[in-house]
Amino acid sequence: MKTNTRRNFLRMSAIVGTGLVLTNCGGGNMANTEGQKKAETSPDENKMGGEVTATEDLMREHGILRRALLVYSAAAIKLRVNPSSIPPASLQKTATLFRAFGEEYHEKKLEEAYIFPAVKKVAGEAASYPDILVAQHNRGREITDYIISVTQGAKLGTSTAEALSKSLEAFVLMYRNHAAREDTIIFPAWKQTMTGKQLDEMNDKFEDIEHEQFGEDGFEDAVKQISAIENSLGLADISQFTAPPPPKV
Ligand SMILES: [Fe+2]
Ligand SMILES: [Fe+2]
Repeated sequence: MKTNTRRNFLRMSAIVGTGLVLTNCGGGNMANTEGQKKAETSPDENKMGGEVTATEDLMREHGILRRALLVYSAAAIKLRVNPSSIPPASLQKTATLFRAFGEEYHEKKLEEAYIFPAVKKVAGEAASYPDILVAQHNRGREITDYIISVTQGAKLGTSTAEALSKSLEAFVLMYRNHAAREDTIIFPAWKQTMTGKQLDEMNDKFEDIEHEQFGEDGFEDAVKQISAIENSLGLADISQFTAPPPPKV
């Protein structure tokens, strides 16, 4: 429904006149009448919260993945101290969410299909990143396979717990670097390759892909899943992470 609304807006804008929509393409149509401005207003602009842009979408997807990384970090510490303190099913669920939402959707359907190919063609620093980012996606998938395979049973043995902790920590370090570079270098560079109209079209395309993959509420469902995992591990209450005051000097 959101998609249709957005498409209707694009169609309506095309009828009203491209000068109104493409003011950032050099038109600079300063002579818009008040009536024209009203016609330009999209139905989504009247919706509480407005619409989600493609880059905002990518960054909030990183938010889900970062919460999964926080689960991995907490689990790695606890597993070292006491392998039975972490139910393997919780890690299995986290890895399954990471696979479906991170690897099969965010990485494969968006970054590898649209963003990296476009960024590789730009001049400058960003173009040197996609190859290593793809290598990191692939290494991440190997680690996810491993997490899923060792968390099938009801318990983790001591040697498995130790090896799993190391893999979780290495994965967390890699992906924190990975997502931070994407947020600050890759996504802004990708955005620069498009006009406002093209970005609007990508918003629609990404939304279609999300619906195809997960149905209507892909992001909202992922938030619910990671929240349930955090709950099961005692990580849901954010106040426990408020830092203590610094030492007195
Ligand atoms: Fe990535
Ligand atoms: Fe990403």
